[in-house]
Parts: sequence; C-alpha cells; structure tokens
Amino acid sequence: YKSADGLLKLDLEAGSHPISLGGKRAYLLGYNGQVPAPRLEAQAGDTVRIRFTNNLTQPTNLHYHGLHVTPTGNADNPFLEIPPGESLTYKFTIPKNHRSGTYWYHPHHHGYVAEQVFGGLAGLFIIRGELDEIAEIQAAKEEFLVLQDFALDRNGRIQSPNHMDMMMGREGELLTVNGQIKPTFSIASGGLLRLRFLNASPSRFYRLALENHPFYLVATDGGALAEPVEFKELLLAPGERAEMLVRGEREPKQYRLLNLPYNRGGMEMMEDEMGMMGDSSHMMGGKSQVNPQILATLTYQGFVSTLPLPKQLIPVETLPEPKTVRRLELSMEEEMAPGMGMSFTFNGKAFDPNKINTQVQVNTVEDWELVNVDLDRMDHPFHLHVNPFQVILRNGEPEPYRAWKDTVLVRGGETVRIRIPFRDFPGKTVYHCHVLDHEDLGMMGIVNIQ
Ligand code: C2O
Ligand code: CU
Ligand code: CU
Repeated sequence: YKSADGLLKLDLEAGSHPISLGGKRAYLLGYNGQVPAPRLEAQAGDTVRIRFTNNLTQPTNLHYHGLHVTPTGNADNPFLEIPPGESLTYKFTIPKNHRSGTYWYHPHHHGYVAEQVFGGLAGLFIIRGELDEIAEIQAAKEEFLVLQDFALDRNGRIQSPNHMDMMMGREGELLTVNGQIKPTFSIASGGLLRLRFLNASPSRFYRLALENHPFYLVATDGGALAEPVEFKELLLAPGERAEMLVRGEREPKQYRLLNLPYNRGGMEMMEDEMGMMGDSSHMMGGKSQVNPQILATLTYQGFVSTLPLPKQLIPVETLPEPKTVRRLELSMEEEMAPGMGMSFTFNGKAFDPNKINTQVQVNTVEDWELVNVDLDRMDHPFHLHVNPFQVILRNGEPEPYRAWKDTVLVRGGETVRIRIPFRDFPGKTVYHCHVLDHEDLGMMGIVNIQ
C-alpha cells in the first residue's frame, strides 16, 4: 500500500485466519489475512487514513511504532480501545521534516500486546525520503525482512504460554522471515543488497550474522547513519530495526544469514522454576540455544563490476545539552503481594493507566538514565513512543557512532543514557519494555508532554 497525492488510504482488518507456514496450515492472527501484515509506504508530509476493523475476540488498537506523529486523538494513541466487532478510522499527518526509515505497526492494547503480536499482528510502515535518494542506495536491490517466531501445536494452533514463558517473554521454535521458513534472496548483478530488518517477535532476540561475510549498517530505528559502519554480527532486540548493505563478490556465492546464540539473562529464575516444576519440556521461552540457526540464504551470481559503498549518508544532528536528567530503574521484582507472583516495573511501580509517571515540557531536551537493576540480570529493551532519541553513554562509555533510536537494549546490570528531544507534540504517551510480556505484566509508564 503506497500513498498517492499525499494520502495513504486503506482499510485494515485484524482477524484470525488459516495461513500456510512452511507448507503447513497455521491459525494465526493477521491484518487483512496476511502475516506479516501488508507493508505501508508513505512520505514525509503525507496524511494517513486507515479505516480499521477489529475482528478479533479481544479488544485491540493500532500503534505506529517509531513514527513522530501526535499521540492524541485518533492518531498514535495507545489508550484507544477498539472492542471486538467495532471499527475506528485513524487519521494523522506525518510532519514535513520526518526522517525516512523503517517503521512498523502492531497492536498496543495493554494486557493483550504479547499475545496479539505473537499471533502474527505486525507490519512495516516505510517512510521514503532522503536515504532512498542516495545513488548507491538507489542502485542496491532492496529487500525487507520481517523476523517473527511462532509456537504452534500439532493442529497448527498457537500454543498458550505458561507462567515461565511469560516471565521470560514467550518465544517460538518456528523462525520465519516474511512468513516464510528459510527463504532465499538474490543479490543483483552490480552487487549491492539493501536488507531492511524488523524484529517483530514479542521476545526473541536475533544475533544476526552473514556466514564469513561482513555487512554494513546504514540505518537504525529512526533513520540513516552519517556513514556506513562495518559489522560482523548485529544484535536486534524486539522492536528494533536495522538496514544493512551487503556487497557481492566477483565469484558466485551463497551466504547464509544466521541467528547466533544469545543469552538474555534470567537464568536463575528459570532454574528455580524448573526445580519447582520438575519438568521443563513445555517451556517455550528462554531455552538457551546452543547452535546457530539459519534464517535465510543470500545468493550471488557473481561477476560484473561491484558497486562501491556510499561514503556519506545523512548527517545525524547533535542534540543540545539537556534541561533535565532523570533516572529510571528497570526491574523485575518478586512477589509484590501474596499470590501476585512477580512484577515488572519502572522505579518500582507497575503500569497504572490512571497515573502519570513522568511530566515533561514540550520542545525541551531531556537525558534519561536507564538503569537495569533486575534481580535476575534479565535484558530489557526500552522503548519510547513518538519521540526518537540518541544513545549518549552506555556504562559511562560514549557510543561508537551517532544514531536515531526508539528502542534501546539495556542489558542486565547496565546503565544507558539516552537524549530525547520532545518535539512538536504535547499529549500523553508511553514508554515500556519491548519484551511484550514484560510490558503486559506492568513494565510500562506514562509520560505527559505539556
Ligand atoms: Cu512497538 Cu509501544 O511499541
Ligand atoms: Cu512503539
Ligand atoms: Cu523486559
């Protein structure tokens, strides 16, 4: 779906559909029957009008992850609730100076987010613009890679998570790229491939690598870097996006795209629980993966001349010094009340829809110090709606390159300082952990921008 004459207009329906996954029938949740959802494409300055119908059996809504648009009214408002069987028309305008990039949309009704995203509800929302106009980027072959994992039973139905899966964040053993298992992508003759990744899994981390081949990061969540940065592997936490350039060689070749093992913490809790249950065979989350998994294969036919990488991309602005510095502690806490089990919190408080956690002045810059004090040293990817930020320090060390982010990984024990310009839009919105089970279990806060 592309915008025409400054308007992106479509009907979108969320519902349960039988979908073919790796040749088997799976009963997933889709937008317009598709997993992943249809890709939307617009430009800065465009108006978006989406007539949305909820055919699920639960309340839901739409969130436009990463877009800098208003959080009020029928726009990127996470407090809207669309009951089953009802419709709502979303309407908002993308600012004229919006950065081009890889954004996305997914449901955001508190309490149901992990379940609905794990069902398959997620799609790309591409903003075209200045990055797409760079000659080498234009010449590259563009591919989108939406990473999703699923846990299905023998009848192709989504498995329900147990207590442990929810504490760790649910994961599935079935890894898909664009709803396919191990697809193949070819590098055009000329030799540059532009891979645009989205981690649309509710909890799974992807530690991406190309077998024996480097790739070059050109854009993160919120748009382009100033210049390409070489990587041998790249960790993509839930919600994060990355654009990579891959160069072919003179010889025909195949490169496998791998997901390397990664430990996201929480082991102690898991051991306790396993001791208690005496059986871990039904656990879908947090199992430590030992071998690389193959996500896809890239093939290159060889010869012709190989294109150079772009030297410069888009300058990334230097933000002014902050007016305010805040500290936010991220943690999982044991037993807040008898029988409640564990709780996920910011500064010791679980999400309360009737409470404002943070009060901010519009058109000011703030530094937020995100401190992961989790008892069990679990990783928490922190995400803020509406206002993209830059990472300034990680454990006191400056970041190696400047980039726009909306989701940043805060590992167990880490302190990450981000700098946020709260521009243009007053209103209430949220920040939360993008391990969506953690969000549903309380790891979300409300920021009121005035
Ligand atoms: Cu992608 Cu509030 O989330
Ligand atoms: Cu978001
Ligand atoms: Cu978390």
